[in-house]
Amino acid sequence: MTLLVFSGSIRRDSFHIKLARAAADELQRQGAAYTWLNLADYPLPIYDGDLEAQGLPENARALRKLFAAHSGFVIANPEYNGSITPLLKNVLDWVSRKDDSVKAIEPYANKTALLLSTSPGSLAGQRALRHTREILTSLNAIVLPQHVAVPVAQQAFSPEGELIDDKQRTALHVQVAALITLTRKLAA
Ligand SMILES: Cc1cc2nc3c(=O)[nH]c(=O)nc-3n(C[C@H](O)[C@H](O)[C@H](O)COP(=O)(O)O)c2cc1C
Repeated sequence: MTLLVFSGSIRRDSFHIKLARAAADELQRQGAAYTWLNLADYPLPIYDGDLEAQGLPENARALRKLFAAHSGFVIANPEYNGSITPLLKNVLDWVSRKDDSVKAIEPYANKTALLLSTSPGSLAGQRALRHTREILTSLNAIVLPQHVAVPVAQQAFSPEGELIDDKQRTALHVQVAALITLTRKLAA
């Protein structure tokens, strides 16, 4: 059982990369294997059916294979104007497409997902999580009922990248544990 961990922002100083890293550290502490995915390594054009008709981009195929090779996901999900980032939506859309070479593999169905968010504001980007939850559910992924949302991102992390607040650290610990338990049960 290996989990795929990634951020919906590839900004150099992204708070979501920090949050995804904190979750990856927590997975490691709890003995679960993970793969770190940097979406910057898989650039994709904005989805367009005419582009797809010319053949699925190599990176879309590679990401579909990568998703399919994992049992679940940890997604750090920034909020742009109340919703999911275009980067993340574009990746989720391309990965949902298939050609003959990747038709037989399943990137989403029955895979678990833990959603994380943070934001400079007090609402912690939680409105976007609702949208991402709906998208993943429509793709037949199983999203954990609880998420981890960290407000005031600019004060949330230590220089070492750990969550400073005890309650937030505990929430991450508990939700990562829940993700591991559910993923193992589904795999059994
Ligand atoms: C186009 C745009 C729209 C945004 N809309 C929201 C928003 O609706 N709610 C919110 O809490 N933050 C919003 N923000 C602020 C982001 O939460 C903030 O830039 C955050 O740091 C982005 O994540 P990152 O640090 O991982 O790149 C927005 C930022 C951008 C660039």
